[in-house]
Amino acid sequence: MNFPHAEPALTHTLLGPDTAWRRILQARDHDWQHTPLLETTEDGCVLRIERGGTWHAMPAASTAARELFDLFLPLVAGTGVRTIGQLGQSLDGRIATETGHSHYINDPEALTHLHRLRAVVDAVLIGVGTANADNPLLTVRHVDGPQPRRVILDPNGRIRPDLSLLHDGTAPVLLIQSPASSHVAQACAHHVERIVLPLEGRGFSPTGILDTLAARGLHRILVEGGGDTLSRFVQAGRLDRLHLLVAPLLIGSGRPGLCLPPIDTLDSALRPVSRSYACGRDTIFDLQLR
Ligand SMILES: NC(=O)c1ccc[n+]([C@@H]2O[C@H](COP(=O)([O-])OP(=O)(O)OC[C@H]3O[C@@H](n4cnc5c(N)ncnc54)[C@H](OP(=O)(O)O)[C@@H]3O)[C@@H](O)[C@H]2O)c1
Repeated sequence: MNFPHAEPALTHTLLGPDTAWRRILQARDHDWQHTPLLETTEDGCVLRIERGGTWHAMPAASTAARELFDLFLPLVAGTGVRTIGQLGQSLDGRIATETGHSHYINDPEALTHLHRLRAVVDAVLIGVGTANADNPLLTVRHVDGPQPRRVILDPNGRIRPDLSLLHDGTAPVLLIQSPASSHVAQACAHHVERIVLPLEGRGFSPTGILDTLAARGLHRILVEGGGDTLSRFVQAGRLDRLHLLVAPLLIGSGRPGLCLPPIDTLDSALRPVSRSYACGRDTIFDLQLR
């Protein structure tokens, strides 16, 4: 018996999000200054990433992979992005309740996004308000990736000595304090280094903080919050990129996110280049500030 000849189905392997994430981590450690192209082949998919973050996948990348490339390659592919901010906020611009409760404003997908941000930077930086309110570990746990240094701004020595990150040893901690602030309790493990910076006006200058970290080889910094710490970087013009994760939630009161000095007319408002992405029920606004 003769069977009709069947054409073999054309099977295209799409480049998926797991491969995309591995390539983003590879791009993070690539020497873009000397080698402006990163080309890889895996499972029949060819991926070309150029310095600056332009990318091309053959035969194609899945939607999830495309979004990962678009969100993360501008941060790692030799674009000169140095400081990245993130804030998870409600529709009415709050990052916590009046009592400091912020777990959780966003969907679990946003937490995965935050851990990806931590994995692509050299250091994660927070203010002492967030450290004391949240007792965060600031480690990468929801995705594969390296652990960043953990930096806390504590000009007045009011950090709680029982905070987990002062004792867990998962990654080094840099505690930036002013000359007048007291040492943190000696009970802290050897992974905690105290750095003394002079205060300038209202606090440490963001430029002084970034220079201090750069002197330790830490060039790409995630300013993870809270609103006060992040606002000071924006006001000083030292935040390159901001990922605002907006949840469909109205709190109606509480801790504000970004707070800048008042302006008289909207001509003076910041109008960054912006792209948006769905993240669970939340929306990521990727804002290019510089
Ligand atoms: N939803 C989110 O994405 C998110 C993210 C992070 C935090 N949070 C929430 O936000 C709240 C805390 O935010 P917050 O705005 O109140 O506080 P914060 O930004 O965490 O900490 C502010 C404090 O850090 C120190 N600081 C920050 N920048 C400084 C600088 N340039 N120079 C000197 N000192 C500096 C100051 O300490 P002194 O007061 O000692 O001068 C300042 O008062 C918490 O409730 C937390 O749960 C939410």
